Order: sequence, then C-alpha cells, then structure tokens
Amino acid sequence: MDSLLVSIYSIALILLGAYLILRRRYSYWADRGVLHDKPKLIFGNIREFGRTKALFIIIREYYMKYKGKAKYVGFYLFIRRTILILDLELIKNVLIKDYEYFPNRGTYYNEKDDPISASIMHLDYEKWRNMRVKLTPTFTSGKMKFMFPTVVDVATQLVEVMRDAHESGSFEMGIEFEDIIARYAVDVIGSVAFGLSCNSLKNPEAEFKVMGEKGFPCKHNWLVHSFMNSYPNLARKLGVKYHFDDVGEFFLRIVRETVTYREKTGTQRKDFLNLLIDLKNSDTADPITMEQITAQAYVFFTAGFETSSCTMSFCLYELALNQMVQNKLREEVMEVLTRYEGKFTYEAMNEMKYMEKVLNETMRKYSIVPFTLRRAIKDYVIPNTNHVIEKGMDVVIPIDALHYDPEYFPNPEEFNPERFSASEVEKRDSMSYIPFGDGPRICIGIRFSRLVIMIGLVMILRNYRILPTKKTEIPLQFSLRKFFMGSRNGIYLRTEKIS
Ligand code: HEM
Repeated sequence: MDSLLVSIYSIALILLGAYLILRRRYSYWADRGVLHDKPKLIFGNIREFGRTKALFIIIREYYMKYKGKAKYVGFYLFIRRTILILDLELIKNVLIKDYEYFPNRGTYYNEKDDPISASIMHLDYEKWRNMRVKLTPTFTSGKMKFMFPTVVDVATQLVEVMRDAHESGSFEMGIEFEDIIARYAVDVIGSVAFGLSCNSLKNPEAEFKVMGEKGFPCKHNWLVHSFMNSYPNLARKLGVKYHFDDVGEFFLRIVRETVTYREKTGTQRKDFLNLLIDLKNSDTADPITMEQITAQAYVFFTAGFETSSCTMSFCLYELALNQMVQNKLREEVMEVLTRYEGKFTYEAMNEMKYMEKVLNETMRKYSIVPFTLRRAIKDYVIPNTNHVIEKGMDVVIPIDALHYDPEYFPNPEEFNPERFSASEVEKRDSMSYIPFGDGPRICIGIRFSRLVIMIGLVMILRNYRILPTKKTEIPLQFSLRKFFMGSRNGIYLRTEKIS
C-alpha cells in the first residue's frame, strides 16, 4: 500500500514538475512583450498540425496575421520556443550578415549512437564547416556536367516506365505521377551518391527506397522529436537516436561494401561517392571516416530525394493545368535540341531559359521546404530594438510564407513563370525568394536538383504531352502530417504520345 502511495505521489510530482517547466517555457514571449498567439499546452502554436492543417499553412497564416504589425513574433513549435521573422532585412541579417551568431540549424544528431545522423545538414558549427568545405567541390558545375550522362541514363528508364504505364494506364484516371517520379529520383541519387543500381523504377519495393523512406522523418513521435531538438545534449547523453537501427545498419553496410569493392578493384567512377573515398584516403590531418562518408551520402538521399521529386511532380501538375506554359516549354526544348542536332547535352540544358522560369515559379508556388531554422550561439540584439535573441533560441525563416506574400508575389495562387523574367526579378528584394535558403548554410544541392529535375522534364516533354484527368485534384490537397510539403492523395495525370 505504502509503495503504491509513493508511486502515485512520485508520478504526481513528476507531472507537476513537467507542467511548471512547460508553463515557464510558454510564458517566455509574454514576459518579453513580443507579439505571439497564446500557446496550447504541449502543442504550442501548432495545435492543428496533422489534424486539420499542414504545418506550412499554419506558418503562412501566422505570418499573414502579424505582417505589418511586427518584424518578428514569438512562435512555439510544440514545446520549442522560436522566433519567427517577418522582415526581409532581419532575415538577411540572420542568414547572411550576422551569420556568426546563427551558424547552426539546431536540428538533432547523435554522432556516437546514430552515425548517419551526423551529416552536414545537422552538424554544428566547427564540425559543419569542416565537412562543408570538403564537400563543396562535389557540387561544382564541372561535376554536374560529369554526372549528366548518368542522370540521363536513369531518365531514359523513367521514360520507358512511363511508356509501360501509359499503355496499361487508365485513360479516365491517368497514372499516379508522384510515385513514378519519386522512384526516378531514388535511382538517380542511389546511382550518383552510392554507386548503386537501385532499380526502384522497375521494382517499386527496392530495399534502398524502402530504407530511405523509413529514415525520414524521425522514428520518434513529435513530442520526443521536440524534446531532442530542445535538449540535444541531454538527449545525446540518454543515447536517443533519430533513425531506426536497421536504417543505419543498412546504409553503413552498403557504403562499406561499395567502398571496399572500389578500393580493392581500383574502380574509379565520377560520382559523389568517389570524391568521398578520395577524402577518406587523403593525406590531410583529419581524413573522413567510413561513418562520415555514409552520413554525407545518406543526407544526399534524405535531403535530395523528396525535395527534387516533389518539385518535379508539382511542376508536371502545373504544366498539365497550364497547357500554354507546357506548349511554350516544349517548343523551347525542341528548338534547343534541334540546334544541338537532337543531342541532349549539359550545354543544351543550360540554354533552356524558359525552363528556368518554370522551375523557379514551381518552387515559389510549392516551397517543398516551407521553412528553415537557425539556432543562436550567442545573444543577438535585434538592430534598433532592445530585444535580444538569446543564445540557444531557434529562429524560423518562413520560406513558403514569403513566397505567398502578395506584396512580393501578387495573386500568389496563380502559376506565372513570367514572375521570373529579368525585369520582374530586379524589382524584388532577393530575400523574398529563397527556396534553397541563403547564406553559408544555403542548400548545397541546388545545381544537382536542377540537373535531376531538368533532365527528367526534358525527357518527358519531348515524348509526351501531360494532361489532367477526372482524378486530378484541383486545387491540390496537401498532406497534413508531413514537415515538408507533399500531396495528400497523389498526383494523377494522363500522358499523350507526341508523334
Ligand atoms: C528542389 C530541390 C531542393 C530544395 C527546394 C532544397 C531546399 C533546401 C533548403 C531550404 C535548405 C535549408 C537551407 C538553409 O537553411 O538556408 C536545404 C539544405 C540542404 N540541402 Fe537542399 N534542397 C533541394 C535539393 C537538394 C539536393 C538534391 C541535395 C543533395 C544532393 C540537397 C542537400 C542539402 C543539404 C546537404 C543541405 C544542408 C546544407 C548545410 O547545412 O550546409 N538538397 N535544402
């Protein structure tokens, strides 16, 4: 009986303690006189997330509610206190000018217990900088040119799979594009980052794709995830991992096998993995380890696969709904290819200027990564105010909300590539369009994603006209549960062979 009472008291005390800690956390912005919505216990300001609204919609609405009233507002991402910036000048300060205050993303990693989590995406300052310097040469224009034929090979398989789907697909309903394009992106990244033929285009259940999808998002529920991000040192001491064990083991094994094979046979391939192997075998004071190679190859997958494939799918969706844009784009593709005697080369791709506009507008209307984060490593006084962004505070940069702000993009629901004509771009502040973030931690894969998407689009457009079907959702419904932007029910479109 006594022990039962002790247990009840202990639980009550723990709950009371947790409640008091949360109450203190949630009074943070009120105590400092910063505008914010009153948070709900545990959920903070995102109670509707996963139930009635996608996260990017919640942030977009929050931004619009306070725009014009303040340059920054308090925002609770579950139990995580953050400051959400509305003002372009201040965004520029955080990402670029005063970057030394905000060098980290503040996302969780655990190098010891979960080595694949320690990638440049998550690493903190010194470790991040070291790795970024080593990896940057992998993404030059020269390297993209080199990888061009490998990507074209996979895109050729994409067209074959589309042909089969076209022949067997229902005319009424069309085919589900998001899945086919995702398999294309998996195969491209598997090939260039891991040196593997993943074959997921032909075999949708390929282990590589399954493991990759299991690796993101986090294996824990949002509450534990929020705890990991808010108290990373404690979480690391407790051995908390971001990934399931089998995901880490799978990627460590395949990288070890491929690296050993290449080293034994002296195989050289011009891909990301080769560069990582060179770094491992370099004479520098700190060559990278097998675990580090795996973590970096793995992040190309988690950061590159869904972002590129969803952008490409959303682009095809818009092209199906905007036939004039599609026709104009196809005319450009055909005209450039004719000039290059039908040969699709890296140089030919770079001449497709309307394609650039279409892609930019796609990434404006669909900001797959709807926000990015920075964590302050020292106190930062917000210029011309007496407010301080305290050390340890997370800053939210609302990428999607900026792209939907009618002040910068009038009539934001409209798909209009001409927003990206040189004269229109010149009129806008560069901070109003940041699909890849900005500053030293800007996306490292910009050129690579462009390569994957453009090659895929060219190969599709020269063979097929893309059309909507009865099943195409207009407007498109978005997944409520994803951190990234993704469709809820798939993207159904129809293809018509071009003679
Ligand atoms: C359309 C496709 C893509 C979009 C929209 C996108 C968007 C982003 C954004 C918004 C960030 C955060 C930047 C910041 O915090 O300032 C980011 C970071 C990153 N992305 Fe991408 N990304 C794309 C494709 C890729 C690809 C293909 C790769 C890899 C090959 C990649 C690798 C990374 C990495 C490693 C980071 C972290 C960089 C660092 O902290 O140093 N991304 N991306």
